[in-house]
Amino acid sequence: MEFSIKSGSPEKQRSACVVVGVFEPRKLTLAAELLDNAARSHLSDIIRRGDMEGKAGSTLLLHNVPGTLCDRVLLVGLGKEKEFGDKEYADAIRTAVRTLNETGSFDGTVFLTENGVRKRGTAWRIRQAAIVACEAVYRFDQFKSKKDKVRRPLRKLTFVVDRRSELAGADDALRQGQAIAEGVALAKNLANLPANVCTPTYLAEAAATLAAEHKLECQVLDREEMTALGMHSLLSVAGGSRQDPKLIVLQHRGGKSDEKPVVLIGKGITFDSGGISLKPAADMDEMKYDMCGAAGVLGTIKSAAVLRLPINLVGIVPTAENMPGGAATRPGDIVTSMSGQTIEILNTDAEGRLILCDALSYAARFEPEVVIDVATLTGACVVALGHVATGLFANSDALARELIHAGEEAHDRAWQLPIWNDYQELLKSPFADMANVGGRWAGSITAACFLARFARKYVWAHLDIAGTAWKSGNDKGATGRPVPLLMHYLLRRAGQIA
Ligand code: BES
Ligand code: MN
Ligand code: ZN
Repeated sequence: MEFSIKSGSPEKQRSACVVVGVFEPRKLTLAAELLDNAARSHLSDIIRRGDMEGKAGSTLLLHNVPGTLCDRVLLVGLGKEKEFGDKEYADAIRTAVRTLNETGSFDGTVFLTENGVRKRGTAWRIRQAAIVACEAVYRFDQFKSKKDKVRRPLRKLTFVVDRRSELAGADDALRQGQAIAEGVALAKNLANLPANVCTPTYLAEAAATLAAEHKLECQVLDREEMTALGMHSLLSVAGGSRQDPKLIVLQHRGGKSDEKPVVLIGKGITFDSGGISLKPAADMDEMKYDMCGAAGVLGTIKSAAVLRLPINLVGIVPTAENMPGGAATRPGDIVTSMSGQTIEILNTDAEGRLILCDALSYAARFEPEVVIDVATLTGACVVALGHVATGLFANSDALARELIHAGEEAHDRAWQLPIWNDYQELLKSPFADMANVGGRWAGSITAACFLARFARKYVWAHLDIAGTAWKSGNDKGATGRPVPLLMHYLLRRAGQIA
């Protein structure tokens, strides 16, 4: 999709479609009013007759509106003006873009970006509009032999700002939004691939491709190199699989050479069968999404590289497939992690923490400013927070606050849970330094407490995206979260966002 920004009045736009909003009940936005004036009350007449109440999600497409230069006018219901917030704005843009795409408009000029959104400014509105617009037309159909093609798809969107003085700022915001959307799309594309295609080796190749496209440094450690480093916890997860595990390291050096990097770590289990502690059959296909942390990290690095962010960024992706088999890890097996700490593996389905702990140890060599790991780690996190908020854990309250704020700004929110030492007792093992599971209660917290034992040397946060990385059911698919959250965090660090 091509994007541009302009300022101007709606009746003067030569466009396949001009999009304006209507609040409930039947209240024209400023742009809609200007159109109505030019059209000598054509719009208000229609609205008075009851065709458009302004309810959120409703649309009305009008042709040949007098006094205008566009082919069509699309009215979009915005709901009650007082309740028009982040979610309502995103819903309105999504509805507008989907409708444009399905009704034959080659291009659209969108005035919804002019309307006030509670507590949000122009740059925010433009950035979000670009992200939501790209998402609205996203499809994953590479495995369909017959693709249901849109006959005349939307190709070009113009977002309108209400003052010329805002054009420059809006342009920057647009570029940010487009870059974030590219990262989100990469994360979705990788995550939606089936596990017979997206193997650890495939992920390593995808990282190498990304590195070649954006002049990043890429290094892939194989089984032998990981053995030499003592990553026996990570390696134990791959025992039952025919697929070789990898440790992918990607570096974007946009900052000064002596500047400490932000390190992002993404869980890359390309399929989680549970191993010998086999999962039940229902919905097991969704465990192809157990590499969404990896996908999110690669997507974030792509966005950062597209924007040439002036920061140093390292992505680490430990990746393996968790399968049962003759060489698989057994419940009760004890392994020694890279840190030297020993782990009794009581449940082979708690494998995410086993690959992450060695990646966390490896991260120390980059002398990081902060380390953030991203993982579809626990079903318990879905029980706690559902599909709305990502679980957030941190050994620094300042970092936790920054991430919560970034999530709010990006409408990709996270909610903090504690990792108090009181919980550490649940990980006691009679035979090793710790067990890999903490029992029935507080499953997300004990998982995070496990990770915390490997992150003592630096400032660290953990994002449990088990509930937010993909959607189940009819619109099954990856969401690309938490790329927007991480990008807001990085943009802010780089001083490019308020
Ligand atoms: N990848 C799963 C977590 C998961 C489950 C994410 C369902 C999203 C939906 C993880 O590897 C896992 O299996 N965790 C176990 C841990 C348990 C054995 C302590 C879980 O959550 O059941
Ligand atoms: Mn598992
Ligand atoms: Zn898993």
